[in-house]
Amino acid sequence: MSREAHTMYLTFWVIAVLSIGILLHGTMAFNTAEKGFQMCMTLKENTKDLRHHNLTAIPPNLPAQTEYLDISYNNIARIEDGQLIHLTHLCFLKATNCNLRFISPEAFANNKEIKVLNVSNNLLKIIPKMNLNTLRVIDLSGNEYYSYALPDSFSNFTHLQILALGSKNTISLKLKDFTPLKDIHLEQLILGEGIQVQEYEPGSLAQLRYLKRITLNVSFCQSFVIFDQILVDLNQTQTQELSLVKFVPDDCHVLVDPFTALKNFDGLRKITITQTWINSTVMVKLLQNVWHSPIEDLTFINIVYNEDTPDGMQFPNQNTTTKVKSITFDGIKHYQYQYPKFNISMEHFTHLSYLKFSGTGMNILPCNLISAIPSLQTLDLSDNLLKEAGFWWPLCKPTEIFPSLRHLSLSNNRFIDLAHISKQSSQIKLLESLDLSFNSIRLTGPCSWSPHLTELSLSHNNLGNGVFKYLSTNFKRLDLSKTGITTISQEVLSQFPSLTHLILSSNSIQVIPLNLRAPVLQALFIDQNAIAYISEGVLDGLPKLETLVAGKNPFSCTCDSYWFVTAMNKSLLSDWPMDYSCSTPPSYADTSLVNFKPGNLSCKPWLQAAVSFSVLTVIIVVFAIVFHVCDGVWYTKMLWVWIRVKRRARKGEDRLLKCSFNYHAFISYSQHDSTWVDTQLVPTLEGTGLSLCIHERDFVPGQWIVDNIINCVEASYKTIFVLSQNFVQSEWCNYELFFAQHRAISVDQDSVVFILLEPIPPDSLPSTFLKLRTLLRQQTYLEWPKDECKKHIFWSSLRSMLQIGDKGIALRNVATNIMDTCSLLANQG
Ligand SMILES: *[C@@H]1O[C@H](CO)[C@@H](O)[C@H](O)[C@H]1NC(C)=O
Ligand SMILES: *[C@@H]1O[C@H](CO)[C@@H](O)[C@H](O)[C@H]1NC(C)=O
Ligand SMILES: *[C@@H]1O[C@H](CO)[C@@H](O)[C@H](O)[C@H]1NC(C)=O
Ligand SMILES: *[C@@H]1O[C@H](CO)[C@@H](O)[C@H](O)[C@H]1NC(C)=O
Ligand SMILES: *[C@@H]1O[C@H](CO)[C@@H](O)[C@H](O)[C@H]1NC(C)=O
Ligand SMILES: *[C@@H]1O[C@H](CO)[C@@H](O)[C@H](O)[C@H]1NC(C)=O
Ligand SMILES: *[C@@H]1O[C@H](CO)[C@@H](O)[C@H](O)[C@H]1NC(C)=O
Ligand SMILES: *[C@@H]1O[C@H](CO)[C@@H](O)[C@H](O)[C@H]1NC(C)=O
Ligand SMILES: *[C@@H]1O[C@H](CO)[C@@H](O)[C@H](O)[C@H]1NC(C)=O
Repeated sequence: MSREAHTMYLTFWVIAVLSIGILLHGTMAFNTAEKGFQMCMTLKENTKDLRHHNLTAIPPNLPAQTEYLDISYNNIARIEDGQLIHLTHLCFLKATNCNLRFISPEAFANNKEIKVLNVSNNLLKIIPKMNLNTLRVIDLSGNEYYSYALPDSFSNFTHLQILALGSKNTISLKLKDFTPLKDIHLEQLILGEGIQVQEYEPGSLAQLRYLKRITLNVSFCQSFVIFDQILVDLNQTQTQELSLVKFVPDDCHVLVDPFTALKNFDGLRKITITQTWINSTVMVKLLQNVWHSPIEDLTFINIVYNEDTPDGMQFPNQNTTTKVKSITFDGIKHYQYQYPKFNISMEHFTHLSYLKFSGTGMNILPCNLISAIPSLQTLDLSDNLLKEAGFWWPLCKPTEIFPSLRHLSLSNNRFIDLAHISKQSSQIKLLESLDLSFNSIRLTGPCSWSPHLTELSLSHNNLGNGVFKYLSTNFKRLDLSKTGITTISQEVLSQFPSLTHLILSSNSIQVIPLNLRAPVLQALFIDQNAIAYISEGVLDGLPKLETLVAGKNPFSCTCDSYWFVTAMNKSLLSDWPMDYSCSTPPSYADTSLVNFKPGNLSCKPWLQAAVSFSVLTVIIVVFAIVFHVCDGVWYTKMLWVWIRVKRRARKGEDRLLKCSFNYHAFISYSQHDSTWVDTQLVPTLEGTGLSLCIHERDFVPGQWIVDNIINCVEASYKTIFVLSQNFVQSEWCNYELFFAQHRAISVDQDSVVFILLEPIPPDSLPSTFLKLRTLLRQQTYLEWPKDECKKHIFWSSLRSMLQIGDKGIALRNVATNIMDTCSLLANQG
């Protein structure tokens, strides 16, 4: 066994979980284990699965960002120029079983990122020329060409690592076939279509100087000479791994020893025999050659075993030890229903540390044989028919029980009784890890685990939340995927202070509690549960966490995922972003989480509050500025005047009905303000048909001024005082006198209108002007504005105060005026 195989086991837990994930999620369209898939890691939405779509050509409307395209199982005879022209990001193209007959040399001219092309199982009559210099993996097997001659364009495939060729029509291998690849660092070649090769030009494969792995899907029976020639070439290229598919046809009588060359094959480390019928006679020949070869890893996959020697496999008196470190049997069909017989001393296997018997139908462990291997560290008996009584067979009294065994897999068997297993397995003194996944384990009673045992997998057994009570506090790695767990709590986790790896995939956990504390936990798998979001703070109690796998959960693309999407360090997530997509709300369903952009604003309440506060402040400030700039005070006052005018309108009606007036208004003003009165007030008011009494013009000469005033006041509907500092100082004293003497004349507030030409604060008035002070305090007055547009409003306010009769018209006039002015203001702004 190579070191690889050992490390393979160390990563076994993870791999097991991943492959289980793939198995169970068959709905996942793509086989992620496929060669080259990792080179094209892509988002789910950039993959297009168009298998079985009755297509007759590559659809022209594929999204330009497509990276993975599978158009297998259609009827696409040709890939023409330009059909893929817009798919500039295409990385992985698979078109198997498509009846493909033709690929245009320039079909991929625009696909500068294509790394994997799989056009196996089609009808290509020649290996097509292609302009595909970025290619890493190409599979052309299962086609119909008559020669393996590669076109010259392959000499441009400078990155090519894996090549698969195979055609039922090709029976010869020529020197020139692989010449274009002689400078390419091709690492792996998969060659042949399961038929015999009748001609091989020696040296053909020796041209592939960098070849490390080769799969020969070639039958040899009459032609073991060719096999020898191939081995000589592969010995030159220092190929390390040789895989033989359908090595001998079922009806072949193997008379010679086909494996003699293996003994001197210096670089070879691994040999795999797949899909082959093997008689015990052939097996003995193989093993005896392997015994003396440098091979460390011997693997059989899906073989048919037939014992055609009466005593089984006899290996008497082997006087050397073998270098073999790893032996794998994965899938054995027994031609006869009997146990294979071995006569071999395990003493010679001093390097054997890995042994796998999987898919063999084993129901009783050949205990004296296997449990005695002194160096055996890993035993994989998965996928058999073992029960407790078959593995710990009562009749078997082994002298040694797995002296070095550290890792045992009993996955996918028929074990039931956890208490029994825990007790029995503690006899395997050094056992560190035990895999009981895919059994029918029940929690039968208290368990007593060996203190050395630190890793346990119980995945895919229906155990429920109670399982934690039956586990050892020494456990470091625990796989409880698909065991029916619905909750995980700090109370449970605290029982396992050494836990570094916890796998809870494929359960029904809905929440990861915020208070989880696991000081040494390094890896947590909670994918394929019912988790809607991962909250901030979940990781606080997990300071050593390096790996978090949380994909394929029904994520809620709302603010609950805000932290996870925006802030969390994704370097922890080994399955990000491929496996993370939204489940709710429906409008986001199947969107990749990486593409979900929650709004900063909508997701942070304090931010929301802060923003609305500042927006409000800004509005208020803007309003205040506008108010100030546009003299809002003045407008407000105006409005107030209007409200009062309106209110008093009804009161005045009686007076109006009873009296008749000569003038609409009597105007009293100071000489100093006569310019304004003459040029502004009088023309404007008289221009609208109002009649005014002005003392200079309309006073009867010779009469005492006070009499004149009284006459005018009595003949006018209103009295207008044009107030200014001048007026107050020069004229008002007359009126104070007048109002004092003529108390009888009712000077009710309604008949007086003040126009302020300049600001006159009531308090600045001399204290003797009692009347004025009170009137100014009580009375609404009109201020003469400097601003042109406000003057409209001023005039219309004044006019309507003087208007006798139809108040409605007057008010309407003001309203229209205010509106005009406002629109004027708006236009200015
Ligand atoms: C090409 O596709 C076939 C069919 O899915 C698959 O069996 C084969 O492994 C693929 N080839 C490579 C090199 O991955
Ligand atoms: C393809 O055609 C077959 C038979 O005509 C039909 O049953 C099948 O639904 C079609 N598949 C698709 C994806 O249209
Ligand atoms: C290899 O690529 C170069 C540049 O793309 C091209 O000019 C040349 O013709 C190609 N060689 C072959 C043998 O196709
Ligand atoms: C070997 O060839 C057979 C055809 O006889 C094919 O079905 C099979 O997929 C090939 N196996 C490999 C590993 O290429
Ligand atoms: C393989 O090559 C080595 C020299 O590198 C040679 O000694 C040995 O005989 C060769 N084996 C075969 C089977 O050709
Ligand atoms: C295996 O042995 C049987 C006789 O038991 C013989 O008929 C068959 O051809 C042999 N097959 C191979 C592959 O050696
Ligand atoms: C096993 O081989 C030894 C010779 O090494 C022989 O004596 C013995 O009888 C064989 N046992 C069986 C069961 O064939
Ligand atoms: C045992 O070793 C001797 C000499 O070292 C050799 O001749 C003999 O063939 C070996 N026996 C086996 C079964 O390999
Ligand atoms: C994420 O974590 C890794 C290692 O834990 C660190 O190197 C990297 O800088 C972190 N990234 C960010 C954005 O914090």
